[in-house]
Amino acid sequence: MKNILITGGSGFIGSHVVRLFVNKYSNYNIINLDALTYAGNLENLKDIESKSNYTFIKEDICDDKKMETIFSKYDIDAVIHLAAESHVDRSIKDPFSFAKTNVLGTLSLLQAAKIYWNNNYANKLFYHVSTDEVYGSLNNEGYFTEKTAYDPHSPYAASKASSDHFVRAFNDTYKLPTVISNCSNNYGSFQFPEKLIPLFINNICNNKSLPVYGKGENVRDWLFVEDHARAIDVIFHKGKLGDTYNIGGFNEWRNIDLIKVLIKTVDELLSREEGASEKLISYVKDRAGHDYRYAIDSSKLKNELGWEPSLQFEEGIEKTVKWYLNNTEWVENIVNGDYQKYYKEMYEN
Ligand code: NAD
Ligand code: DAU
Repeated sequence: MKNILITGGSGFIGSHVVRLFVNKYSNYNIINLDALTYAGNLENLKDIESKSNYTFIKEDICDDKKMETIFSKYDIDAVIHLAAESHVDRSIKDPFSFAKTNVLGTLSLLQAAKIYWNNNYANKLFYHVSTDEVYGSLNNEGYFTEKTAYDPHSPYAASKASSDHFVRAFNDTYKLPTVISNCSNNYGSFQFPEKLIPLFINNICNNKSLPVYGKGENVRDWLFVEDHARAIDVIFHKGKLGDTYNIGGFNEWRNIDLIKVLIKTVDELLSREEGASEKLISYVKDRAGHDYRYAIDSSKLKNELGWEPSLQFEEGIEKTVKWYLNNTEWVENIVNGDYQKYYKEMYEN
């Protein structure tokens, strides 16, 4: 048996990674460590929580002494680190919590791994999950490759860039066996409805205004979350130590075009007249420092490790919209309480 610590496993991407690993690898003990912030939700893993190779621990990655104890108590062989503050808009309002969790939290895990593994690095791995936002913003040409210089703009991106640097520093300085992946925008089930796609699906369903930042011309490169989880599986098992892999689907969309696809899909599924919900589009003040375009070149991952996305975007979006329509209880449990306060502060002031 191998003991694998997955951090942030109760969040959006983490829950897909935990599910994949628990179901696919009965020879791994999966230990999901999550602080259950507003973004963490035990409901995301209801279907696997009673499996014998799954353990949940509620802890904060910033507690470095606790992390040392956990490495030793569970005899951790490998880490897949996803826990983070992940929403750009929240980072603009409260950069400190992003520096704390994303930078200091990552450092506390790196230090715990270094202390517990104590230079016995055979079959050990610290896998850090990061984002394409560390590379900054593109104009209409070109792609981010693994060699693109870091140029983060938002406090979120700056905190993720910093955490990537710490991971590389631990590899260079202490020879800690690490690997990093930088992925583009994910979409799919269990995503917190503060992010564009679940927020807009929910608002279209409820005939609420769709707040499009600026002119809606910013471009994002969208990947189905289960394809991201598959990429993490491949990199975890076959990635070269000390290396970095970009993950993306060569699937760029201008926000406004993507929003029209969402409207069309939801309207069709709810038997509304075609385009009926386009009247909900409302152009609002742009996000501060809004990156214009992200586009990932993931050819290294394809050429070296053989990973490719499995789903076409249209199929993925339809699957995703159907999931949110069929899981209204999951959404309703979230959009109560604190979420209302967040929504008011973010969109109604
Ligand atoms: P999320 O916000 O949905 O989930 C984050 C999880 O981390 C939550 O379960 C939360 O409770 C947990 N967490 C937060 N602070 C913690 C702490 N101090 N200690 C322990 N747990 C804590 O995020 P996500 O969208 O699933 O992103 C997961 C990772 O993937 C992040 O590192 C993010 O930077 C990265 N990423 C996300 C995307 C995307 O499109 N969502 C794309 C590329 C990379
Ligand atoms: O690129 C990877 C990143 O993608 C991840 O690292 C982040 O964790 C994840 O949140 C995501 O960041 P974005 O800022 O690109 O995602 P978001 O869903 O917040 O916004 C997508 C685009 O839609 C962006 O151009 C801003 C715009 N937008 C977003 C919201 C929430 C709107 O126009 N209106 C909105 O209300």
